[in-house]
Parts: sequence; C-alpha cells; structure tokens
Amino acid sequence: MTEQTTWGILGTGRMAKVITAELLDLDGAEVLAVGSRDQKNADAFGETYSIAQRYGSYEEFSQDPNIDIVYVATPHFRHVEDVRLCLEAGKHVLCERPFSLRPEDVEPLIALAREKNLFLMEGMWTRFTPGIRKLCDLIDRKAVGEIKMIIGGGGFIPTDESASHIYDPDHGGGVLLDSGIDLISLTTMIFGKPTTVNGIATLSEEGVDEQNAILLGYSHGRIANLYVTIKAVQSPYMTLLGTEGSIEVIPPVYAPQFLIVQNQEGKQTIHNSPLEGSGYRYELEEVMTCLRENRRESSIMSLDETLRLLNIANEIRLQTGVRFPFE
Ligand SMILES: NC(=O)c1ccc[n+]([C@@H]2O[C@H](COP(=O)([O-])OP(=O)(O)OC[C@H]3O[C@@H](n4cnc5c(N)ncnc54)[C@H](OP(=O)(O)O)[C@@H]3O)[C@@H](O)[C@H]2O)c1
Repeated sequence: MTEQTTWGILGTGRMAKVITAELLDLDGAEVLAVGSRDQKNADAFGETYSIAQRYGSYEEFSQDPNIDIVYVATPHFRHVEDVRLCLEAGKHVLCERPFSLRPEDVEPLIALAREKNLFLMEGMWTRFTPGIRKLCDLIDRKAVGEIKMIIGGGGFIPTDESASHIYDPDHGGGVLLDSGIDLISLTTMIFGKPTTVNGIATLSEEGVDEQNAILLGYSHGRIANLYVTIKAVQSPYMTLLGTEGSIEVIPPVYAPQFLIVQNQEGKQTIHNSPLEGSGYRYELEEVMTCLRENRRESSIMSLDETLRLLNIANEIRLQTGVRFPFE
C-alpha cells in the first residue's frame, strides 16, 4: 500500500458527511468513492465533497478496485451485511459503532476479516480523543491509586427526525445500543471484561429500551454503575473513584476538555488540548497508521473489545426483556 490511503464512504447520511469532511482535511487520506442506494444521493454527495467515483449501488461500490478502506456509515441494523459485502470484496473496513445488534452476528465477520487478512475496526472514536488518552495515562500512572468504582451516565430527549430509529424495534432501536454502548466502552477500556452484568430498563410501548441502569462487576471487587436515558437530560459524565482520590471526567465524556483530579496533593483541573476538527480525526489517524504498519487490528479498539461490548449489551437486553422482531 502507498502512503496515501484511499477511502470509500458507504452511505450518505450524517456520519458519512462528518467523517468525509474530516478525511478531506487529513494528510495521507484521499476520499475516492461514495456508495449510496440511490445514484442521485451519490452524485449530490460526490459533488459536495469533490469525490470522483459515485455509485448508486452498494454492490458496485464494493467492486471499485482502487478503494483501500471503506468507512461503513449505514444504520447499525444493517452493518453486518454491509461490512460483509466490503470484506468479501477485499476491502479493509472501519465500521461505525455500534458494530451490530448481536455478538453472534459479528463473530463470523471477525473470522472473515482475519481469514482474508483485512483490517477491521469498530469506530469507537471516543477512545482516541486526547481527553480520553489523557485519562488512560492518569489511570496508568495511578494518579488516584487503584480505580475501584466508575459512576457515569447521560441522557437526552431526541427531538428531530434523525433520531426516529431509536424508537423503532425493526431498526434495532433503544438507547442502550444508540448511546449506552459508548459508556460501556469507556468502562471496559478501564476495567476489562466484567464478571457480572446486571441491568434494568424501562421500555417503550413498542418494546425498545428508553432508560437503562447498568451494574457491572469486575475482578478485585471493582464496580461500574452506569445509566443512560432518552427520557431525561444530562450531559454524559463519568467519575472514577480510586483508593487515593477521584477523577471527574467533565462532559462531554466522549471528548472531555477537562479532567478534575483530586488526590493527596489536592485538587487539580487538567485542561486537555482543544479537539482538532470534529474530534473524529484521531480514530481516522489510528486506522491509517495501522494500515501503514500492516496491522490488521487496533490495540486501542480491538475486535475482541467489540465482541465484549456486544456481549454486555446483549446480556442487558435479554435481562431487560428487549427482543428484536426477527428473533
Ligand atoms: N460515532 C458517533 O459519534 C456516531 C454518532 C451518530 C451516529 N453514529 C452511528 O453512525 C451510523 C450511521 O448513523 P447516521 O446518524 O449517519 O445515520 P443516517 O444519517 O440515517 O445515515 C445513514 C445512511 O445509511 C444509508 N442507509 C442504508 N440503508 C438505510 C436504511 N434502511 N435507512 C436509513 N439509511 C440507510 C443511507 O445512505 P444512502 O441512502 O445514501 O444509501 C443513509 O444516509 C450508525 O451506526 C450510528 O449509530 C455514530
């Protein structure tokens, strides 16, 4: 592969636009093609972002021989078929989060990527932001001793049409997969694999989860206590309690500008460097670094982590009585 990474964008919605704009601003990235279900959408998108190859079918898009890596920006309920299409066509893939609805659907894709020696990663962008990298550094340096407890949560009340999928059981709706997965991801990034998973939820009339309270137990007596809701409003935050103090991750938790560390030395506010671009470039840089170094997985967001997150979400879903219509 050359130093230049050529990207194809699958889907033309909100995230496709954000990531394409970010890629256009990144050294070493070229956006070569866009794929849509509709030629008109592909043409309009291509026009806006000056993308040369514009395909009105996902199948045709996947056959473009000049694409190195596809960014899959379709809704999560169809990620499995879209990722499979791209892997089978020999493309590396960055797939938006959540990777899918259920772990059992993702396992064969991971096997396929490994068999074909292709890069595959879930776009868990938060893990790559400077504020979260700084948080990891503080934890590694034991700035507040051993972390024993994580408390965190967030909520929003969707108002616009673009959030209608959250209420739709046919589209794998529910707040757990839509947003809770990000909080669970940050928690497993810190604590690893839980030993116990417990959730309670309130469900909509259609049977999707609108509120989740989640208790995760880990080895050495560590606990995470999380919540996520679309019935109330709270900027997502997280507090880490350690044996020698605490770290407050000030909202937005996904790309925090400030961390407040309280330990024997007193209280210190850490200012993280401002986000460059929309904040997604850090994950994109990681993907391109992996490709240049011939790595097929990111150590920051591995495929085992993707499976771990989906297993946790699945267990909570089954405990709380959420069922997908096709099950
Ligand atoms: N990382 C983050 O912070 C973040 C934030 C928001 C969303 N997401 C994730 O990003 C992914 C895409 O979300 P989005 O907000 O960009 O969605 P969106 O605006 O609805 O766009 C999705 C695109 O997928 C294509 N598509 C294919 N089948 C579709 C279907 N049955 N219904 C609707 N669209 C369909 C459409 O493009 P064509 O019509 O051109 O084929 C559409 O424009 C999801 O997995 C979501 O969870 C991530």
